[in-house]
Parts: sequence; structure tokens; C-alpha cells
Amino acid sequence: MKATSKTRTLLVKNIAHLVVDNHRPLRLQGSEMANLEVIDNAYLTVDGDRFSGFGKMTDNMPTESSFDQVIDACGGSIFPSWCDPHTHIVYAGSREAEFVDKIRGLSYAEIARRGGGILNSADHLHELSEDELYRQALRRADEIIRKGTGCVEVKSGYGLNTADELKMLRVIRRLQETTPLKIKATFLGAHAVGRQYTQPEYVDLLINEMIPAVAKEQLADYIDVFCDEGFFTVEETARILEAGARYGLRPKIHAEELAPSGGVAVGVKYNALSVDHLESMDEAGFELLLNSETMPTALPGTSFFLNIPFTPARKMISAGLGVALASDYNPGSTPSGDMKFIVSLACIKMRLLPAEAINAATINAAYALGESQDYGSIAVGKVANFFLTEPISSVEYLPYAYTSPIIKQAFLSGRPYEGLKGLD
Ligand code: NIG
Ligand code: FE
Repeated sequence: MKATSKTRTLLVKNIAHLVVDNHRPLRLQGSEMANLEVIDNAYLTVDGDRFSGFGKMTDNMPTESSFDQVIDACGGSIFPSWCDPHTHIVYAGSREAEFVDKIRGLSYAEIARRGGGILNSADHLHELSEDELYRQALRRADEIIRKGTGCVEVKSGYGLNTADELKMLRVIRRLQETTPLKIKATFLGAHAVGRQYTQPEYVDLLINEMIPAVAKEQLADYIDVFCDEGFFTVEETARILEAGARYGLRPKIHAEELAPSGGVAVGVKYNALSVDHLESMDEAGFELLLNSETMPTALPGTSFFLNIPFTPARKMISAGLGVALASDYNPGSTPSGDMKFIVSLACIKMRLLPAEAINAATINAAYALGESQDYGSIAVGKVANFFLTEPISSVEYLPYAYTSPIIKQAFLSGRPYEGLKGLD
């Protein structure tokens, strides 16, 4: 792309390892996931908010004086920003008491059956003003940007009545307006049954009142259902997804976390963009996914925190499937949005190669957000979201050094991230 007098241009030089994308696939599947293009001793250019070029320092690097800004990477490396296609970062308070209950031996499902879990978060959220909820979510947005995330999906699902679900979605809208993150909003009214309703009453409320209200204010891009044992059945999920489809809401669903629930089949049937969790999934579902446009999305932070099995992502990739990674940042099952750690967990616990895990957390994660045309890799013309690291010996060092704070500076839409207004 040619620089015009109107847009700001940036050159980053002396990049030891630059992860790039010359092919622009919308998603990677099977053996393709191990392909990661890396240029050593590289430069990168940005025009306005988009990448405009890259190459080896020794091959025709453009003259520095033709750029508005030149940044010396000083031997650091550059990766495309993480995309995080499954989070619940709008929530009230925290649930460390349940963390202790789990250490003492209660399972996630037992805590939920006793009225804790998601319902506990819904009680907190009900008490909080929209402004305070926004302020708490803004801190988490700042935290994930600093950890390298540039594009994120955020769900409702701690309201569990019409007014509080709308409150959550309005907070997500405010984050879309006030942060440099690219945010996609998902309506997850079907996260649990709100305390004041029976299960059938609540499903009817979702279909007849909540979905139309969300659509009227155009507050959501996607619709989600916690389709699992003890939450919503396959039949209820189908009814809810059909109602969402009438308003153009594509599914991204929670499936087969706690039990093999039939969630993959119902997700694929309704052309879900992604089916997420899959910790209890068996191989019968692979065939369904192979013939679909649905991205299986693994959330290894949840398996780590809840001490439950890890999603069979290695087997999925070996069977030819693409896999995406997400943090699931939420107060109950994963109080962390650190995608670098998620990538490390994918390598350590699910046996993904570093290249596979990085692709799963970038281009395939962007696909699971419906945004891989514009996000998820360093390709000419895509939005210039990337992060610069401290000097590291190789790309593989990133997941290897699984707690080292080596992400030095995030850049979103071509600009260095310097913090958000409104944080105390
Ligand atoms: O993705 N599994 C369902 N929902 C969340 C947890 C929500 C919570 O416990 O607050 C998840 O793990
Ligand atoms: Fe979740």
C-alpha cells in the first residue's frame, strides 16, 4: 500500500524474528497448522491502521526518512496480536470462595447445583450499576491488551433476566467504543436459568423476550448457549438457536465441557461459527466438524483451573481439523485472560507444537471471531495489531518461557498502546 499524505506511517526495524502471513488463509486445518512463516532480521511497515509491508532488513528496506515514525525493535521479535474468541470479561466481583470450595473437593457442577457458580455472579451483577460494571470490565480490557490481545469476543450471561442481560451488552458496547480492542459481542442469556424462573419459563423468556430485545438494540453479533449436562439440553439449544437465527445471530456455543452432551452436533447443524470447550468430546464428533465451517475451540485455562480433562486438540489436528484457542476469562472457571499462558498450556498439556498453538491463538482464533479477513496475522492490508517482545532466541521461546513477562509493547491499529482513559 502506498503512503498518502493523510495517513500516519510507521517503520519498525531490527526485528529478530517476525511472524508473517503471505498466503492469507481464512483458517488453517490439520497439517497446515504447523506452518508458521518467520522472517529473521526483519522490518515491518504500517500505513495508517493497516500493515503495508515487511521483509528482510537486507532486502530493500524502505528509507527511514520516508516514514512519520521509526521504531527500533532492538532485536525483539514481533508476533500478530492474540485473538481471543471466547471470554466473559464483563462480570461483577470475583468468586475466590468457590476456588477454595474446589480445593476442598467440590466440583464445578456441585457448586452450581448448590446455587453458587454462574448464579452467584448474576447476584453480584444485579447489585452493580452499569457504570461500575463498565469500570471493572475496563480494567480487564487493559490487562488483556497489555498481555498481547488485540481482538476479543465478549459474552453476556451473568444477567439472566432481560434488564440485566441488556445491561451487560450495553457495557460491551461501551468497551467497543472506548477501547482500541476489536470486540465482537455474544448474547449468552442461556448461560444458566435465572433464579426467579423455572427452566421452561426461562427458555420461553429467552425466545420471546430477550432475543428480540437484544436484536432491537443491535447489541449482539452472535448467540451462545451453555449446552451441557445440568444447564441446557440439545432440544432447548436447538429452539434457542433457531430463535437467534430469525434475527441473524450466528451461534458460537459452549459444548461438551462437563459431559458428552450432543453440543457439537447441534452446533454444526445450526452452522455455528465455533463450538467451544469440548473437554468431554469423543472422536465421533470429529467427522461432523470435518465437513463443516465450525471451528472447534479449546480453552485449556479452564481444564487447568478446574482440573478437568484437556480438549483432545492433538487428535483433532491429526485428524485434519483446525483448532482455535481462547482464554474463557471468567470469574468461575478461568480467572485469567493471559493468551501467552494459554498458548503454553496448549503446548504443554495438549501437545500442540508452538507453531500450531500460535496459529490456533491468532489466525484460527480470528476465524472463530468471524474476523480472519482483517485480523489474526501480519499480512499486507490487515489491521496492524501486533506485539513486540524482549529479545528472545526463537519463536518457540515464547510458549517455552511460560510465565516470563516478555511481551514488551502492544500495538493496536498501528499505534503503541499507552493505556485507557477512566482507569483509577
Ligand atoms: O465457559 N461453562 C460455562 N461458562 C463459563 C463459566 C462461567 C462461570 O463459572 O462463571 C465457562 O467456563
Ligand atoms: Fe465460557
